Amino acid sequence: MAEQTNDLMDKLVALCKRRGFIFQSSEIYGGINGFWDYGPLGVELKRNVKNAWWEDIVRKRSDMVGLDCSIIMNPKVWEASGHVAGFTDPLVDCTACKGRFRADQLFTVRFLGEGDQPIHVATSDQDAEDAEAFCQVLRGKANSKIRRRIDQAEKKGTLKIDGPFSPMDRPGESLCPSCGGALTEARKFNMMFKTYVGALEDSSSVAYLRPETAQGIFANYKNVLDTTRLKLPFGIAQIGKSFRNEINPRNYTFRSREFEQMEIEFFCRPAEADQWYTYWRDSRFQWYVDLGLRSDRLRLRDHEADELAFYARACADVEYAFPFGTTELEGIANRTNYDLTQHQQFSGRDMAYFDDETKERFIPHVIEPSGGVDRATLAFLCEAYCEDEAPDEHGNPQSRTVMKLHPRIAPIKAAVFPLVKKEGMPEVAERIHAELKSAGLAVFYDEKGAVGRRYRRQDEAGTPFCVTVDGQTLQDQTVTIRDRDTLVQDRIAADKVLAYVTERLR
Ligand code: GAP
Repeated sequence: MAEQTNDLMDKLVALCKRRGFIFQSSEIYGGINGFWDYGPLGVELKRNVKNAWWEDIVRKRSDMVGLDCSIIMNPKVWEASGHVAGFTDPLVDCTACKGRFRADQLFTVRFLGEGDQPIHVATSDQDAEDAEAFCQVLRGKANSKIRRRIDQAEKKGTLKIDGPFSPMDRPGESLCPSCGGALTEARKFNMMFKTYVGALEDSSSVAYLRPETAQGIFANYKNVLDTTRLKLPFGIAQIGKSFRNEINPRNYTFRSREFEQMEIEFFCRPAEADQWYTYWRDSRFQWYVDLGLRSDRLRLRDHEADELAFYARACADVEYAFPFGTTELEGIANRTNYDLTQHQQFSGRDMAYFDDETKERFIPHVIEPSGGVDRATLAFLCEAYCEDEAPDEHGNPQSRTVMKLHPRIAPIKAAVFPLVKKEGMPEVAERIHAELKSAGLAVFYDEKGAVGRRYRRQDEAGTPFCVTVDGQTLQDQTVTIRDRDTLVQDRIAADKVLAYVTERLR
């Protein structure tokens, strides 16, 4: 199972590079860990994900407005939000190889009968769920000395995996998972990227690249209220870059140091907060289903009471079973009036709302659905990847890789081909291509090579429709439209292609 899933991830990463979905950032200089670039297909896909969110969340609703805040804000924002004091990861360093690990991702392997010296290994909860898989991870990471000890302990039957796998509590007594060296005690590491504003580089000019877009919404809550005619309940939505100095950026774009978020702060009366929480939790889950995450890999997980922040009343995660483990795509939280109260206290500005109906003044409660654009995009890519068979131009079955992306988010909506590069076919195909393009659709024209090959290239790019101009077109002005997923070819009038495609993109 583990091999199969890693295999899928390897294939997906290779396809994304080969076809121009995702590149390593500054690859020509050896890359930079935790940063990614989106190529010509990737940028269209990601933009379509953001546009779908914006259309569904802002444009189609009358109780939502949008916002676009600056990335660098007054540092007091991050004091009020708790990020300066609390946005930290516990870190341990290896005194020998200088490796750095998150203490809460280290787990203990104890070797009985060998002085009981524990070794902590950086791994995920999923790996640690099963002892055998855990040993494999350990072997993969540990140096040859530790690997030998595992083999010996296993042979003697003295290898014991300590569980449950809670974060380790005695880092100073543990060995480095990479080299076997001594680890330091854990210390707190703030994940906000620091910078300086202005010419002076001292403590008075320190500022931060925002680690979330949400605080910009809270800081503008009064501005929005005063400049619109919105009344409770209403929401403010924002899409934008966030930055976190993650210690272990990993799993491709899943955990990056620079990423995009799409966040909503939905303000409501305290008495209605529970209802709105349930509404947003369910509708955000359904949004992913509607955009193509239809398999049982998508799930909704309500947090237990002991997982909640002290100010939160409820929280749920939309989770996706990626090849590297099941984990969060989006969190939906009932944050009560915590954030606005904090900003009122730190800024001295009144954040209360006067309710015309009840004549009461109060600080609204907030429901926050907070998702990651890059994580959503990665989930759509994982779900879409498919290997099957399609007949070639002679009708013989041929294996193909196809990205079954929902038409709404597919980077290219349609490709137009002349069957052959003569007999007037290119001219007709170019006309159809130009018509689709001028309607604002991302379309592609291709006249090179065998038509079967051209279909396959579009299958890999996730293009839902391929329009082919053939000999019959010249007689009756019809073309074929091939459906990427069913492989069915409809023959329709050439002047109906635009209507056919736009109808199916909805
Ligand atoms: N305002 C709440 C907030 O920021 P979060 O759970 O820390 O909550 C929200 O982040 C979403 O942002 C996550 O569900 C995830 O989709 C995305 N995200 C967070 N850290 C990320 C990272 N290092 N790389 C990519 N996406 C990330």
